[in-house]
Amino acid sequence: MKYRIVAYKTLPADVMAMLRERADVVEVDASEPLALAAALRDADGAIGAGVKITPAMLDGSRVKALSTISVGFDAFDVADLTARRIVLAHTPDVLTESTADTVFSLILASARRVVELAEWVKAGHWTTGVGPAEYGVDVQGKTLGIVGLGRIGGAVARRAALGFNMRVLYTNRSPNPAAEAQYGARRVALDELLASADFVCLQVPLTDATRHLIGAAELRKMKSSAILINASRGATVDEAALIDALRDGTIHGAGLDVFETEPLPADSPLLALPNVVALPHIGSATHETRHAMALDAAENLLAALDGTLTRNLVNPEALAR
Ligand code: DGY
Repeated sequence: MKYRIVAYKTLPADVMAMLRERADVVEVDASEPLALAAALRDADGAIGAGVKITPAMLDGSRVKALSTISVGFDAFDVADLTARRIVLAHTPDVLTESTADTVFSLILASARRVVELAEWVKAGHWTTGVGPAEYGVDVQGKTLGIVGLGRIGGAVARRAALGFNMRVLYTNRSPNPAAEAQYGARRVALDELLASADFVCLQVPLTDATRHLIGAAELRKMKSSAILINASRGATVDEAALIDALRDGTIHGAGLDVFETEPLPADSPLLALPNVVALPHIGSATHETRHAMALDAAENLLAALDGTLTRNLVNPEALAR
């Protein structure tokens, strides 16, 4: 018997064809939560990304597995899913390197003012040479503080230590011996990291414990020359406090791929600040990686429905009960 699957994000044609061999796939526009909830009511599983799947949307449904095309799973109430015995799968490995590339592009763009100066050239301001008014700050040889040294943090640490001769500090719930041995990374308390790092890079998932992890007090602990990099989730930073800190010189600048509200509202003060590089949440957004994520998520979903999924499980407890 074929499964019935809801796809609430457009999938690459080959991935969709693979799913259709094993399932009837109903495509739903994720911007219509009522339509999505109605489709879920009559489905065995769902695949997608970019919208919250609330407990209410699952009431009365027979969904057995959900598969998010993302590493982050803050769009789900995991405890509720586990209580319902719904398996949640994610795509943690395939996006590590491209997301680390995005983080590093934010570090370089913020430090060397790449976006600001490229716009300056296009606006016709390059009439003589550049001077101190256009200078940036060095990246190589500086200190990078990584808050949360998991897979992506580790890939950022590798770029920093081996490619840019940077000193790497990190915080993490548990030590990361591989990063310490290979990149000379040193685990320190958050306060020490904030006080010492030239670049503070957030790589934590969004949870109740990390929401507004960086607020006014933490920003004050950073060097006034420091740059904050966030490509994790916007709400790990108190955005209002960050805006104040960027305006009054508490910190030097910020490179941001994520925001408390996405898309970033057109009237956000962040857009008017020259010391901010703002990207539209492109962490993993390359053709190759987005395809790999969709394929990974589709395979996860089918295996979860078959009862054979052993990796990429967010809540293995859902199986154990
Ligand atoms: C992820 O995979 O979590 C990326 O941030 C895209 O949402």
